[in-house]
Amino acid sequence: MRITSEFSLLALLGHPVQHSLSPLFQNAALQKLGLPYVYLAFDVAPDDLKDALYGLKALGFRGANLTVPHKELAVNFMDSLHEHAALLEAVNTVVNENGKLVGYNTDVIGFMKALHKNGAQLEGREVLLLGAGGAARAVACALNEVKVTRIWVANRSWERARLFLEWSRKALTCPVESLSWTSLFEQPDKEPTFREIYAIINATALGLKGEEIPLPWGYLSGLHWVIDLVYGKKGTPLVKKAEEKNIRNFDGRDMLIFQGAESFRLFTGHQAPLDVMFGALES
Ligand SMILES: NC(=O)c1ccc[n+]([C@@H]2O[C@H](COP(=O)([O-])OP(=O)(O)OC[C@H]3O[C@@H](n4cnc5c(N)ncnc54)[C@H](OP(=O)(O)O)[C@@H]3O)[C@@H](O)[C@H]2O)c1
Repeated sequence: MRITSEFSLLALLGHPVQHSLSPLFQNAALQKLGLPYVYLAFDVAPDDLKDALYGLKALGFRGANLTVPHKELAVNFMDSLHEHAALLEAVNTVVNENGKLVGYNTDVIGFMKALHKNGAQLEGREVLLLGAGGAARAVACALNEVKVTRIWVANRSWERARLFLEWSRKALTCPVESLSWTSLFEQPDKEPTFREIYAIINATALGLKGEEIPLPWGYLSGLHWVIDLVYGKKGTPLVKKAEEKNIRNFDGRDMLIFQGAESFRLFTGHQAPLDVMFGALES
């Protein structure tokens, strides 16, 4: 590929970013369609985020994706927020519209498309969500949109669970209740709610380093789906466990591609070639 001065720049801003697969599949898709863009990853410390975002304007970048830990802080530096970004109070895609930064969040649509691709129908069901960070909010919005009847949320730290509950009362229409992290793992016999849980979604960082999540499998008699937002080349410990137990499952690769494909569309105005993106990830 010959890069010329006609090319526009796209960025991933995170801290760290070395592990990210986004440059791989975004550049593969851009090249496949012959679009004049280059997508690069930048490790930006939280204290430098404001300068980095204003730098996108100064240098005429077309846009950027944001990853951990920048999604929430970035909200403060946007000129305007699109619907899901405003609802989640988190931005994962920034589009530079003639010098104005517009913040989007494509994680909600990414998760909904992953549910659809895998045939997971959660309407009218109760779901247990592990984690209460930015990704958990995106999943909760998607679950609200597909009309689950109840979301149970369990988070390691109570403070973040509390903030999540407070946020959910403003942002969602479906009931959201908390389950204690300790009772989930250590005293499952005290939780009659477990029988009603149809799907478990892991939106914590557990699994990134190969950690197991010791779910009380024996108490989860109504469980039909295990979904992990974490992804791994050969699955994650959680989806492997679900596989052993014959419970339908998928990891975070589908969501990763679908949220990236939506960003691609916002940046370029073209539908992303999904087969190319999935192929780049597999390779
Ligand atoms: N597949 C995708 O497209 C996609 C998209 C977005 C995110 N993700 C993944 O989703 C996960 C969460 O991302 P995020 O943006 O929500 O991050 P975040 O806002 O920093 O939240 C992290 C969450 O993980 C929990 N956590 C971290 N370490 C833990 C541990 N050792 N034990 C128990 N809980 C732990 C935190 O609990 P505390 O409050 O107790 O710290 C918090 O609930 C990450 O693994 C990320 O890679 C995947």
